[in-house]
Amino acid sequence: MKIGVIGLGHVGAHVVSAIVQKNLASELYLYDLNEKKLIAEINDLEQASLLEDTNPRFIKANLEDLLYCDIVINTASKRIISGDRLKELEGTKEIIYSLFKNFNKDNFKGIIINISNPCDIISYLIHKITGIESKRIIGTGTLLDSIRFKAVLSKKLNVSPKDIYALVVGEHGESQVNAYSNCNVYGINLEKYLEINNIEFNRNEIKSLVSQAGWDIFSVKGATEYGIGSVTAYLIDCIKNDKRISIPYSHSYIYNGKIIYISTPALLGEEGYIVDSPLVLSEVENQAFMNSCMLISGIIEELNA
Ligand SMILES: NC(=O)c1ccc[n+]([C@@H]2O[C@H](COP(=O)([O-])OP(=O)(O)OC[C@H]3O[C@@H](n4cnc5c(N)ncnc54)[C@H](O)[C@@H]3O)[C@@H](O)[C@H]2O)c1
Repeated sequence: MKIGVIGLGHVGAHVVSAIVQKNLASELYLYDLNEKKLIAEINDLEQASLLEDTNPRFIKANLEDLLYCDIVINTASKRIISGDRLKELEGTKEIIYSLFKNFNKDNFKGIIINISNPCDIISYLIHKITGIESKRIIGTGTLLDSIRFKAVLSKKLNVSPKDIYALVVGEHGESQVNAYSNCNVYGINLEKYLEINNIEFNRNEIKSLVSQAGWDIFSVKGATEYGIGSVTAYLIDCIKNDKRISIPYSHSYIYNGKIIYISTPALLGEEGYIVDSPLVLSEVENQAFMNSCMLISGIIEELNA
């Protein structure tokens, strides 16, 4: 499989490393505006790959090469300085126009996975700019948040993360929603599990632990990279192997009669986004999810895209 990665910063380099470790690509087409950094990253990654069972070809790509890739991953962004993902939009939207203006549904047959923040809005913008059908453009969305939620629950309940199903829906950002109604421990609904075991549970504390998890890492090391690397490799695996399993990620969604991008659990396979899987939210969760849709929809309208 030919995989292209745009932006070889903290995230892009870790995405490539995860792809190599999971043997997902035969050829890696790597592109960054900063050519010196790109060459250094390619050399480092290529040398690291020599001890793996696989040895994909590393290619310093131009934008045209990316049109022939099966999957293109976007991580290009203006350097992040604040703790608010939405603030990245102003600087990153111009970058996105310049990168994707020559992609269209006739010259690109692959799938685009967007990581750059604000993830839902940028994924939508790529769809709008390219005109490529929305099922072939997805964002990593709340898959990372769902994993963070699982990690928080695992520590709180002292249960292996493997025995927990935890779901975050909505924006990959502040308005995200912990979908408690869909969570389970050992297959038992989380609420029921807490009740049976008499466990005190402060949802506000859990919410801030989950939504702050990224910033706790970012504020110390200036990036989050390993988690998003694994998440992206997982999405690629679902596409490459047509897994059609239900996972939360950002995809097109009709809100108030218009397309937005937001995360709900959905099947993912070789054609990209397939269909939403069933999601039952409590009234409060549903209201919070609608608020998240409204926020994203409002920003898209302001963009006039
Ligand atoms: N969706 C998620 O869950 C998630 C998680 C972590 C980070 N992110 C986002 O990923 C993005 C990248 O983060 P990072 O830490 O790697 O940032 P970074 O600054 O380390 O890397 C960004 C890279 O993009 C490159 N770039 C900028 N403009 C470009 C252009 N026009 N063409 C090609 N390359 C260009 C830069 O040279 C740089 O190497 C940010 O938007 C960040 O918020 C998202």
